[in-house]
Amino acid sequence: MKTMGALIWEPGTRSGWSVEEIEIDPPKSREVKIKLAASGICHSDDHVDTGDIPLDWAPIIGGHEGAGIIEEVGPHVTGFEVGDHVVLSFMPACGHCEKCNVGLTNLCTMGAGVLGGFAPDGTHRIHARGQGVGPFSYLGTFSPYVVVNIDSCVKIGKDIPLDKAALIGCGVPTGWGSSVYAADVQLGETVVVIGTGGVGMNAVQGAVHKGAKNVIAVDPVEFKRDQAKKFGATHTVNDLTQAAELVSDMTGGQGADKVLITVDVAHGELLNPAQEMVCRGGTLVVTSAAPVTQRDVPFDLFTFAMSGKRLQGTLYGSTNARRDIPLIADMYRRGEFKLDELVTKTYELEQVNEAITDMREGKNIRGVIMYDL
Ligand SMILES: NC(=O)c1ccc[n+]([C@@H]2O[C@H](COP(=O)([O-])OP(=O)(O)OC[C@H]3O[C@@H](n4cnc5c(N)ncnc54)[C@H](O)[C@@H]3O)[C@@H](O)[C@H]2O)c1
Ligand SMILES: [Zn+2]
Ligand SMILES: [Zn+2]
Repeated sequence: MKTMGALIWEPGTRSGWSVEEIEIDPPKSREVKIKLAASGICHSDDHVDTGDIPLDWAPIIGGHEGAGIIEEVGPHVTGFEVGDHVVLSFMPACGHCEKCNVGLTNLCTMGAGVLGGFAPDGTHRIHARGQGVGPFSYLGTFSPYVVVNIDSCVKIGKDIPLDKAALIGCGVPTGWGSSVYAADVQLGETVVVIGTGGVGMNAVQGAVHKGAKNVIAVDPVEFKRDQAKKFGATHTVNDLTQAAELVSDMTGGQGADKVLITVDVAHGELLNPAQEMVCRGGTLVVTSAAPVTQRDVPFDLFTFAMSGKRLQGTLYGSTNARRDIPLIADMYRRGEFKLDELVTKTYELEQVNEAITDMREGKNIRGVIMYDL
Protein backbone atom coordinates (compact mmCIF):
# COMPACT_ATOMS: atom_id res chain seq x y z
CA MET A 1 0.00 0.00 0.00
CA LYS A 2 1.03 3.60 -0.47
CA THR A 3 1.20 5.96 2.51
CA MET A 4 3.43 8.73 3.87
CA GLY A 5 6.59 8.48 5.96
CA ALA A 6 9.31 10.73 7.41
CA LEU A 7 12.76 9.68 6.16
CA ILE A 8 16.38 10.64 6.63
CA TRP A 9 18.38 10.32 3.40
CA GLU A 10 21.71 11.68 4.66
CA PRO A 11 22.21 10.50 8.25
CA GLY A 12 24.48 12.59 10.48
CA THR A 13 24.19 15.77 8.40
CA ARG A 14 21.31 17.49 10.23
CA SER A 15 19.45 17.51 6.92
CA GLY A 16 16.11 16.99 8.67
CA TRP A 17 13.25 14.63 7.90
CA SER A 18 11.72 14.33 4.44
CA VAL A 19 7.99 13.58 4.52
CA GLU A 20 7.15 11.72 1.33
CA GLU A 21 5.26 8.85 -0.21
CA ILE A 22 6.36 5.36 0.79
CA GLU A 23 5.21 1.91 -0.26
CA ILE A 24 4.66 -0.70 2.47
CA ASP A 25 4.56 -4.44 1.63
CA PRO A 26 1.95 -6.77 3.14
CA PRO A 27 2.99 -8.64 6.29
CA LYS A 28 5.17 -11.72 5.80
CA SER A 29 5.71 -14.65 8.17
CA ARG A 30 5.12 -13.72 11.84
CA GLU A 31 4.33 -10.11 10.89
CA VAL A 32 1.32 -7.86 11.30
CA LYS A 33 0.21 -4.63 9.69
CA ILE A 34 -0.81 -1.99 12.22
CA LYS A 35 -2.69 1.25 11.75
CA LEU A 36 -1.09 3.62 14.25
CA ALA A 37 -2.86 6.12 16.47
CA ALA A 38 0.25 8.14 17.21
CA SER A 39 4.03 8.22 17.42
CA GLY A 40 6.02 9.81 20.20
CA ILE A 41 9.20 11.68 19.31
CA CYS A 42 12.16 10.47 21.33
CA HIS A 43 15.55 12.12 21.41
CA SER A 44 17.02 8.89 19.98
CA ASP A 45 15.31 9.68 16.64
CA ASP A 46 17.27 12.92 16.49
CA HIS A 47 20.60 11.15 17.14
CA VAL A 48 20.32 9.65 13.64
CA ASP A 49 20.07 13.11 12.10
CA THR A 50 22.82 14.67 14.25
CA GLY A 51 25.15 11.68 13.86
CA ASP A 52 25.45 10.96 17.59
CA ILE A 53 24.21 7.55 16.43
CA PRO A 54 26.17 7.20 13.16
CA LEU A 55 24.48 5.12 10.48
CA ASP A 56 26.27 4.16 7.27
CA TRP A 57 23.11 3.33 5.36
CA ALA A 58 20.02 5.20 4.18
CA PRO A 59 17.24 5.96 3.83
CA ILE A 60 15.91 5.43 7.34
CA ILE A 61 12.32 5.85 8.43
CA GLY A 62 12.26 7.28 11.95
CA GLY A 63 10.01 6.75 14.93
CA HIS A 64 10.02 3.98 17.51
CA GLU A 65 7.29 4.97 19.99
CA GLY A 66 3.95 3.86 18.58
CA ALA A 67 0.67 2.16 19.35
CA GLY A 68 -2.24 1.16 17.17
CA ILE A 69 -4.67 -1.49 16.00
CA ILE A 70 -3.78 -4.64 14.06
CA GLU A 71 -5.33 -4.41 10.61
CA GLU A 72 -3.85 -7.44 8.86
CA VAL A 73 -2.15 -10.60 10.05
CA GLY A 74 0.55 -12.41 8.05
CA PRO A 75 1.20 -16.18 7.93
CA HIS A 76 2.32 -18.08 11.06
CA VAL A 77 1.06 -15.42 13.48
CA THR A 78 -0.14 -16.77 16.80
CA GLY A 79 -1.37 -14.80 19.79
CA PHE A 80 -2.49 -11.74 17.80
CA GLU A 81 -5.55 -11.07 15.67
CA VAL A 82 -7.11 -8.26 13.65
CA GLY A 83 -8.52 -5.62 16.00
CA ASP A 84 -5.98 -6.18 18.81
CA HIS A 85 -4.59 -3.01 20.39
CA VAL A 86 -0.81 -3.11 20.63
CA VAL A 87 2.09 -1.04 21.82
CA LEU A 88 5.21 -1.29 19.67
CA SER A 89 8.23 -2.09 21.77
CA PHE A 90 11.41 -0.36 20.58
CA MET A 91 13.34 -3.49 21.52
CA PRO A 92 11.89 -6.77 20.24
CA ALA A 93 11.93 -9.84 22.46
CA CYS A 94 12.16 -13.20 20.68
CA GLY A 95 11.43 -15.09 23.89
CA HIS A 96 13.93 -17.89 23.33
CA CYS A 97 17.47 -16.47 23.05
CA GLU A 98 19.99 -16.72 25.89
CA LYS A 99 19.05 -13.28 27.29
CA CYS A 100 15.28 -13.73 26.91
CA ASN A 101 15.62 -17.08 28.70
CA VAL A 102 16.96 -15.40 31.83
CA GLY A 103 14.41 -12.57 31.69
CA LEU A 104 16.68 -9.94 30.18
CA THR A 105 14.37 -9.39 27.23
CA ASN A 106 15.60 -5.81 26.82
CA LEU A 107 18.92 -7.36 25.73
CA CYS A 108 17.34 -9.89 23.33
CA THR A 109 19.76 -11.05 20.63
CA MET A 110 17.24 -10.07 17.97
CA GLY A 111 17.41 -6.51 19.29
CA ALA A 112 21.09 -6.26 18.36
CA GLY A 113 19.99 -5.64 14.76
CA VAL A 114 17.48 -2.85 15.37
CA LEU A 115 19.64 -0.23 13.68
CA GLY A 116 20.85 -2.54 10.90
CA GLY A 117 18.61 -1.06 8.23
CA PHE A 118 16.32 -4.03 7.60
CA ALA A 119 13.35 -5.90 8.98
CA PRO A 120 14.49 -8.73 11.30
CA ASP A 121 14.59 -11.18 8.36
CA GLY A 122 17.15 -9.02 6.55
CA THR A 123 14.78 -7.71 3.87
CA HIS A 124 12.92 -4.44 3.36
CA ARG A 125 9.22 -3.98 4.02
CA ILE A 126 9.22 -0.28 3.09
CA HIS A 127 10.27 1.34 -0.19
CA ALA A 128 10.73 4.94 -1.31
CA ARG A 129 12.06 6.39 -4.58
CA GLY A 130 12.65 2.78 -5.72
CA GLN A 131 14.92 1.96 -2.77
CA GLY A 132 14.51 -0.20 0.34
CA VAL A 133 13.98 1.85 3.51
CA GLY A 134 15.42 0.75 6.89
CA PRO A 135 13.11 1.20 9.88
CA PHE A 136 14.33 2.67 13.18
CA SER A 137 14.17 -0.10 15.80
CA TYR A 138 12.49 -2.46 13.26
CA LEU A 139 9.47 -0.10 13.56
CA GLY A 140 9.46 3.24 11.69
CA THR A 141 6.48 4.84 13.43
CA PHE A 142 6.90 8.12 11.51
CA SER A 143 4.20 6.72 9.23
CA PRO A 144 0.51 6.03 9.87
CA TYR A 145 1.09 2.33 9.05
CA VAL A 146 3.78 -0.17 10.03
CA VAL A 147 4.41 -3.79 9.12
CA VAL A 148 6.34 -5.34 12.00
CA ASN A 149 7.34 -8.65 13.52
CA ILE A 150 5.08 -9.83 16.35
CA ASP A 151 8.14 -9.97 18.62
CA SER A 152 7.95 -6.14 18.64
CA CYS A 153 4.26 -6.09 19.66
CA VAL A 154 2.73 -6.11 23.13
CA LYS A 155 -1.04 -6.31 23.54
CA ILE A 156 -2.83 -3.85 25.83
CA GLY A 157 -6.45 -3.36 26.92
CA LYS A 158 -8.78 -1.63 24.47
CA ASP A 159 -9.74 0.96 27.08
CA ILE A 160 -6.27 2.55 27.15
CA PRO A 161 -6.07 5.58 24.79
CA LEU A 162 -3.64 4.53 22.08
CA ASP A 163 -2.14 7.99 21.56
CA LYS A 164 -0.97 7.96 25.18
CA ALA A 165 -0.05 4.25 25.10
CA ALA A 166 2.39 5.05 22.27
CA LEU A 167 4.76 6.53 24.85
CA ILE A 168 4.96 3.17 26.64
CA GLY A 169 6.96 1.89 23.66
CA CYS A 170 10.17 3.68 24.69
CA GLY A 171 10.43 6.83 26.83
CA VAL A 172 8.08 5.79 29.61
CA PRO A 173 9.51 2.35 30.48
CA THR A 174 13.06 3.54 29.80
CA GLY A 175 12.81 6.33 32.36
CA TRP A 176 10.60 4.54 34.87
CA GLY A 177 12.69 1.36 34.70
CA SER A 178 15.90 3.36 35.08
CA SER A 179 14.74 4.18 38.62
CA VAL A 180 12.77 1.02 39.42
CA TYR A 181 15.15 -1.62 38.03
CA ALA A 182 18.49 -0.15 36.96
CA ALA A 183 18.94 2.10 40.01
CA ASP A 184 16.78 -0.20 42.17
CA VAL A 185 15.56 2.81 44.19
CA GLN A 186 14.54 1.89 47.73
CA LEU A 187 12.12 3.40 50.22
CA GLY A 188 13.49 6.56 51.80
CA GLU A 189 16.39 7.08 49.42
CA THR A 190 17.67 10.31 47.91
CA VAL A 191 17.60 10.22 44.10
CA VAL A 192 18.93 12.73 41.57
CA VAL A 193 17.59 12.71 38.00
CA ILE A 194 19.79 14.73 35.62
CA GLY A 195 17.68 15.83 32.62
CA THR A 196 13.90 15.65 32.94
CA GLY A 197 12.65 15.31 29.36
CA GLY A 198 10.55 12.46 28.01
CA VAL A 199 12.76 9.82 29.60
CA GLY A 200 13.89 11.62 32.78
CA MET A 201 10.37 12.68 33.78
CA ASN A 202 9.51 8.99 33.98
CA ALA A 203 12.62 8.32 36.04
CA VAL A 204 11.13 10.86 38.47
CA GLN A 205 7.83 8.90 38.41
CA GLY A 206 9.72 5.65 39.02
CA ALA A 207 11.63 7.04 41.99
CA VAL A 208 8.38 8.34 43.48
CA HIS A 209 6.72 4.92 42.98
CA LYS A 210 9.53 3.24 44.89
CA GLY A 211 9.11 5.64 47.82
CA ALA A 212 12.21 7.79 47.49
CA LYS A 213 12.34 10.44 50.21
CA ASN A 214 14.02 13.10 48.09
CA VAL A 215 13.72 13.25 44.30
CA ILE A 216 15.86 16.03 42.87
CA ALA A 217 15.21 16.99 39.25
CA VAL A 218 18.07 18.75 37.47
CA ASP A 219 17.26 20.60 34.25
CA PRO A 220 18.32 23.97 32.81
CA VAL A 221 14.81 24.52 31.37
CA GLU A 222 12.36 26.19 33.77
CA PHE A 223 9.33 24.48 32.16
CA LYS A 224 10.88 21.06 32.79
CA ARG A 225 11.61 21.92 36.40
CA ASP A 226 8.03 23.11 36.95
CA GLN A 227 6.66 19.95 35.35
CA ALA A 228 9.02 17.73 37.35
CA LYS A 229 7.33 18.97 40.54
CA LYS A 230 3.97 17.82 39.15
CA PHE A 231 5.51 14.38 38.55
CA GLY A 232 6.61 14.21 42.17
CA ALA A 233 10.06 15.78 42.32
CA THR A 234 10.63 17.16 45.81
CA HIS A 235 13.34 19.59 44.70
CA THR A 236 14.41 21.13 41.39
CA VAL A 237 17.70 22.79 40.40
CA ASN A 238 19.22 24.21 37.21
CA ASP A 239 22.54 22.42 37.05
CA LEU A 240 24.94 19.95 38.60
CA THR A 241 26.71 22.53 40.77
CA GLN A 242 23.44 23.46 42.46
CA ALA A 243 22.48 19.80 42.67
CA ALA A 244 25.76 18.89 44.39
CA GLU A 245 25.29 21.66 46.98
CA LEU A 246 21.70 20.65 47.66
CA VAL A 247 22.53 16.95 47.95
CA SER A 248 25.42 17.67 50.27
CA ASP A 249 23.20 19.86 52.49
CA MET A 250 20.35 17.38 52.68
CA THR A 251 22.53 14.31 53.30
CA GLY A 252 25.05 15.81 55.71
CA GLY A 253 27.75 15.52 53.05
CA GLN A 254 27.08 11.82 52.41
CA GLY A 255 25.69 12.06 48.87
CA ALA A 256 22.66 10.72 47.04
CA ASP A 257 21.86 7.00 47.03
CA LYS A 258 21.09 6.99 43.32
CA VAL A 259 21.98 9.41 40.53
CA LEU A 260 20.58 8.96 37.01
CA ILE A 261 21.79 10.54 33.78
CA THR A 262 18.88 11.11 31.39
CA VAL A 263 20.06 14.23 29.50
CA ASP A 264 19.68 14.52 25.72
CA VAL A 265 23.32 13.58 24.93
CA ALA A 266 25.59 12.08 27.60
CA HIS A 267 28.91 13.81 27.03
CA GLY A 268 31.77 12.35 29.05
CA GLU A 269 32.32 15.49 31.15
CA LEU A 270 29.04 14.80 32.89
CA LEU A 271 30.15 11.50 34.37
CA ASN A 272 32.55 12.63 37.08
CA PRO A 273 30.45 15.43 38.58
CA ALA A 274 27.54 12.95 38.58
CA GLN A 275 29.52 10.23 40.37
CA GLU A 276 30.83 12.75 42.91
CA MET A 277 27.21 13.25 44.02
CA VAL A 278 26.73 9.52 44.68
CA CYS A 279 27.14 8.35 48.28
CA ARG A 280 29.48 5.53 49.31
CA GLY A 281 27.92 2.30 48.08
CA GLY A 282 25.48 4.19 45.85
CA THR A 283 24.74 3.80 42.16
CA LEU A 284 25.16 6.01 39.10
CA VAL A 285 22.88 4.98 36.23
CA VAL A 286 23.58 6.05 32.64
CA THR A 287 20.46 5.90 30.48
CA SER A 288 21.27 8.63 27.93
CA ALA A 289 22.86 7.85 24.62
CA ALA A 290 26.40 9.25 24.30
CA PRO A 291 28.05 10.06 20.98
CA VAL A 292 28.96 6.56 19.75
CA THR A 293 32.57 7.45 18.97
CA GLN A 294 33.25 8.97 22.42
CA ARG A 295 35.96 7.01 24.26
CA ASP A 296 37.81 9.37 26.63
CA VAL A 297 35.89 10.14 29.79
CA PRO A 298 37.56 11.99 32.69
CA PHE A 299 36.72 9.92 35.77
CA ASP A 300 38.00 9.75 39.36
CA LEU A 301 38.47 5.97 39.37
CA PHE A 302 40.27 5.93 42.74
CA THR A 303 37.45 7.53 44.73
CA PHE A 304 34.90 5.58 42.75
CA ALA A 305 36.49 2.23 43.60
CA MET A 306 37.37 3.07 47.20
CA SER A 307 33.82 4.29 47.86
CA GLY A 308 32.30 1.08 46.56
CA LYS A 309 30.10 2.86 44.06
CA ARG A 310 28.36 1.15 41.17
CA LEU A 311 28.12 2.38 37.57
CA GLN A 312 25.10 0.90 35.80
CA GLY A 313 24.24 1.28 32.13
CA THR A 314 20.69 0.56 31.09
CA LEU A 315 18.91 -0.24 27.86
CA TYR A 316 15.11 0.27 27.97
CA GLY A 317 15.36 0.97 31.71
CA SER A 318 16.18 -2.74 32.20
CA THR A 319 12.46 -3.44 31.77
CA ASN A 320 10.82 -6.56 30.39
CA ALA A 321 8.40 -5.25 27.74
CA ARG A 322 5.85 -8.08 27.97
CA ARG A 323 5.59 -7.63 31.71
CA ASP A 324 6.11 -3.90 32.11
CA ILE A 325 4.09 -2.43 29.20
CA PRO A 326 0.82 -3.99 30.46
CA LEU A 327 1.85 -3.16 34.04
CA ILE A 328 2.32 0.53 33.23
CA ALA A 329 -0.97 0.55 31.27
CA ASP A 330 -2.64 -0.93 34.35
CA MET A 331 -1.16 1.69 36.68
CA TYR A 332 -2.37 4.39 34.27
CA ARG A 333 -5.88 2.89 34.33
CA ARG A 334 -5.87 3.05 38.13
CA GLY A 335 -4.70 6.66 38.07
CA GLU A 336 -1.28 5.73 39.48
CA PHE A 337 0.79 6.63 36.42
CA LYS A 338 0.87 9.96 34.63
CA LEU A 339 0.78 9.49 30.84
CA ASP A 340 -1.54 12.29 29.70
CA GLU A 341 0.66 14.88 31.39
CA LEU A 342 3.71 13.72 29.41
CA VAL A 343 2.26 14.97 26.11
CA THR A 344 3.07 18.67 25.81
CA LYS A 345 2.13 19.16 22.15
CA THR A 346 0.73 17.15 19.25
CA TYR A 347 1.71 17.48 15.59
CA GLU A 348 0.79 16.27 12.11
CA LEU A 349 3.37 14.03 10.42
CA GLU A 350 4.18 16.92 8.04
CA GLN A 351 5.29 18.95 11.09
CA VAL A 352 7.90 16.42 12.21
CA ASN A 353 10.84 18.84 11.74
CA GLU A 354 9.05 21.48 13.83
CA ALA A 355 8.44 18.84 16.50
CA ILE A 356 12.14 17.88 16.53
CA THR A 357 13.16 21.56 16.80
CA ASP A 358 10.76 22.00 19.72
CA MET A 359 12.37 18.98 21.42
CA ARG A 360 15.88 20.35 20.86
CA GLU A 361 14.78 23.66 22.35
CA GLY A 362 13.39 21.92 25.42
CA LYS A 363 9.79 22.98 24.78
CA ASN A 364 8.19 19.56 25.17
CA ILE A 365 8.25 16.75 27.66
CA ARG A 366 7.04 14.69 24.72
CA GLY A 367 5.85 15.84 21.33
CA VAL A 368 3.49 13.35 19.72
CA ILE A 369 2.60 12.91 16.03
CA MET A 370 -1.11 12.08 15.70
CA TYR A 371 -2.60 9.95 12.93
CA ASP A 372 -6.24 9.58 11.93
CA LEU A 373 -7.37 6.34 13.51
N1 LIG B 1 19.02 3.70 27.23
C1 LIG B 1 17.93 3.61 26.49
O1 LIG B 1 17.39 2.53 26.29
C2 LIG B 1 17.30 4.84 25.93
C3 LIG B 1 15.99 4.82 25.47
C4 LIG B 1 15.40 6.01 25.06
C5 LIG B 1 16.13 7.17 25.03
N2 LIG B 1 17.43 7.14 25.44
C6 LIG B 1 18.24 8.36 25.50
O2 LIG B 1 17.85 9.08 26.65
C7 LIG B 1 18.21 10.45 26.46
C8 LIG B 1 17.03 11.34 26.83
O3 LIG B 1 16.02 11.23 25.84
P1 LIG B 1 14.71 12.14 25.91
O4 LIG B 1 13.84 11.68 24.81
O5 LIG B 1 14.22 12.19 27.30
O6 LIG B 1 15.33 13.58 25.53
P2 LIG B 1 14.67 15.01 25.82
O7 LIG B 1 15.27 15.94 24.85
O8 LIG B 1 13.20 14.87 25.90
O9 LIG B 1 15.17 15.37 27.31
C9 LIG B 1 16.49 15.68 27.63
C10 LIG B 1 16.46 16.67 28.80
O10 LIG B 1 17.79 16.86 29.28
C11 LIG B 1 17.90 18.24 29.65
N3 LIG B 1 19.33 18.57 29.73
C12 LIG B 1 20.20 18.81 28.71
N4 LIG B 1 21.44 19.05 29.20
C13 LIG B 1 21.35 18.95 30.55
C14 LIG B 1 22.30 19.08 31.61
N5 LIG B 1 23.58 19.34 31.37
N6 LIG B 1 21.85 18.93 32.89
C15 LIG B 1 20.56 18.66 33.13
N7 LIG B 1 19.63 18.51 32.16
C16 LIG B 1 20.02 18.65 30.89
C17 LIG B 1 17.10 18.96 28.59
O11 LIG B 1 16.72 20.26 29.01
C18 LIG B 1 15.90 18.02 28.44
O12 LIG B 1 14.86 18.37 29.34
C19 LIG B 1 18.65 10.57 25.01
O13 LIG B 1 20.06 10.47 24.95
C20 LIG B 1 18.04 9.33 24.37
O14 LIG B 1 18.71 8.92 23.19
C21 LIG B 1 18.02 6.02 25.90
ZN1 LIG C 1 13.35 6.19 22.35
ZN1 LIG D 1 15.46 -12.94 22.64
